[in-house]
Formats: sequence, C-alpha cells, structure tokens
Amino acid sequence: MQETAFFKRMGQAVADNKGPLFWSALTAALVVAFLIFFYLPPDIGAEQPIPFSHRVHAGVKKIECQFCHPYVGRSVHPGLPPVAKCLYCHKHIITQHPWIQKEHEYFNTQTPTPWVQVNYLPEHVFFNHQRHIRKQIACEQCHGKVEAMDRIKGKRFWMGFCVECHQQKGANLGCWLACHN
Ligand code: HEC
Ligand code: HEC
Ligand code: HEC
Ligand code: HEC
Repeated sequence: MQETAFFKRMGQAVADNKGPLFWSALTAALVVAFLIFFYLPPDIGAEQPIPFSHRVHAGVKKIECQFCHPYVGRSVHPGLPPVAKCLYCHKHIITQHPWIQKEHEYFNTQTPTPWVQVNYLPEHVFFNHQRHIRKQIACEQCHGKVEAMDRIKGKRFWMGFCVECHQQKGANLGCWLACHN
C-alpha cells in the first residue's frame, strides 16, 4: 500500500514537473546515508590507555577471569587488576613491547592505569556480583563473550534485563526493595 502511494506521488511529482527537485532530494538523501554509513566509527568499544585484549588473554591464553578480577565472587565490585598483576607475567613475556614499557612507566610512577569504565548501572541501582556468582550464573550471561573481544563493548544495564532473568529464575522481584537504594 505504502509503496503504491509512494510511486503515485512520484509520478505526480514528475507530471507536475517537480521531477528534478524530487531526484535531487533523493540523491542528497542517498549521499547523506552513504556518508553516515562509511564515516561513523563502528561501535568497537572504548579505547583504553593500553590496548589490553581480553581475546588474547582470556581467549587465546586461557587465563581465568578471576585471576584478574579476583573479588568478583567475594565483594560488590570485582575491580580491575593493578598494573603489578600485569607485570607478574610481563616481567618475563614480551618485555620490550612498547605497551609493556608503558606498564613499567605506570608502575614506576605509581600511577593507577586510567582504564576507561565501560559498563554502567543507573546510580540508584544496587547490584551485587557475589549473589549472582554464588548461583553459578556465568559471566557471559551478563557480559557476553568477553573472551572473544579485543575491546569490551560498553553496556548500559536496564532494569528489564535484570527483571527478565529474576522472573525466570524465581529470584527476588521486589526490586524497589532489593535493587534500589
Ligand atoms: C589478564 C587480566 C584479565 C583477565 C584474564 C580478564 N580480564 Fe577483564 N579486565 C581486565 C582489565 C585490565 C580491564 C580494564 C580494561 C578493559 O576494559 O579492557 C578489564 C575489564 C573487564 C570488564 C569491563 C569493566 C568495566 O565495566 O569497565 C569486564 C566486564 C571484564 N573485564 C570481564 C572479564 C571476564 C568475563 C573475563 C574472563 C572471560 C575477564 N574479564 C578476564 C583484565 C583481565
Ligand atoms: C598470566 C599472564 C599474563 C598476565 C597476568 C597479563 N598478560 Fe598480557 N600477555 C600474556 C601473554 C602470554 C601474551 C601474548 C604474548 C605473545 O603474543 O607472545 C600477552 C600479550 C599482551 C600484550 C600484547 C598485545 C596483544 O594484545 O597481543 C599486551 C599489550 C598485554 N599483554 C597487556 C597486558 C596488561 C595491560 C595486563 C594487565 C591488565 C596483562 N597483559 C596481564 C600474558 C599475561
Ligand atoms: C547478573 C549479571 C552479571 C554477572 C553474572 C556478572 N556481571 Fe560483571 N557486571 C555486571 C554489572 C551490572 C556491572 C556494572 C556494575 C556497576 O557499575 O556497579 C558489572 C561490572 C563488572 C566489572 C567492572 C569493574 C567493577 O568493579 O565495577 C567487572 C570487571 C566484571 N563485571 C567482571 C565480571 C566477571 C569476571 C564475571 C564472572 C565471574 C561477572 N562480571 C559476572 C553484571 C554481571
Ligand atoms: C542471568 C540471571 C540474572 C540477571 C541477568 C540478574 N540477576 Fe540478580 N539475581 C539472580 C538470581 C538467581 C538471584 C538470587 C541469588 C540468591 O538467591 O542468592 C539474584 C539476586 C539478586 C539480588 C539479591 C536479591 C535479594 O534477595 O536480596 C539483587 C539485589 C540483584 N539480584 C540485582 C540484580 C540487578 C540490579 C541486575 C541487573 C543489573 C540483576 N540482578 C541481573 C539472577 C540474575
């Protein structure tokens, strides 16, 4: 239905001698679409101060998530590894790599690596990893296949995401009591 209406109007435009106007408008629209498509950067995740790759470390080298995020099952915040933990391996592995040199610089000047945070929860939401890990919920369920990502794609967790699983698993749905502080 809509197509016929469109073609009718197009025919009418040509009949009214508005053809050139129509075609230049269409061309302009296509050019804009083309530019957007090619020049907007794809969403590949935030750029980090050191291009740390989960795909290399957790995927190829099979380092356990909890080796670097040890507090995930024990505290509210899993935390990011301090640079000393990177150097635990990189004192010996690819030591001359420019990014590893940068790690040494952070370490020697006692500067915490300024990692860019990528996951967000609205501020009033209370979230606790511990409760979820204890119930054997895999990291992947909420974070996706991190071991396949070079850069972690950010995510904003909306309430629907939490509520859907809580419904399925029969977890606490009294969210205004449980999750909002
Ligand atoms: C060798 C150490 C290391 C290992 C192993 C590791 N991570 Fe990370 N992780 C990091 C570092 C460093 C960052 C911060 C930089 C970044 O976001 O890439 C990070 C960031 C993250 C973040 C994003 C944090 C945020 O909100 O900004 C998530 C989620 C995460 N890791 C999950 C995982 C999971 C799941 C695994 C296992 C499959 C894993 N990590 C294995 C070091 C590690
Ligand atoms: C358990 C050991 C281990 C830890 C801990 C570790 N790495 Fe690595 N890392 C490796 C190995 C193995 C490689 C692959 C080396 C190679 O390609 O020969 C690697 C490669 C790299 C590379 C090279 C570029 C790339 O992605 O291929 C960078 C940069 C890097 N690591 C940064 C880090 C940072 C930053 C940390 C701390 C958050 C860290 N690593 C912690 C073992 C580790
Ligand atoms: C039930 C969902 C869920 C599961 C399962 C889960 N996470 Fe998370 N994770 C989140 C949410 C939501 C955030 C953002 C939390 C915030 O901003 O406080 C987050 C944040 C993080 C961060 C950011 C650093 C920090 O301290 O805030 C890391 C690292 C992380 N998760 C690692 C892991 C690892 C490793 C696992 C598996 C062992 C895991 N997560 C399992 C939901 C989950
Ligand atoms: C993949 C499933 C899953 C997802 C996604 C999930 N949860 Fe949960 N959550 C559970 C389960 C199962 C429990 C029950 C744990 C227990 O009984 O100890 C739970 C427990 C909780 C609790 C403790 C409730 C209580 O009884 O006191 C809070 C708070 C919570 N979740 C918040 C969140 C928030 C906020 C999110 C979204 C960012 C979220 N959850 C996403 C499965 C999930």
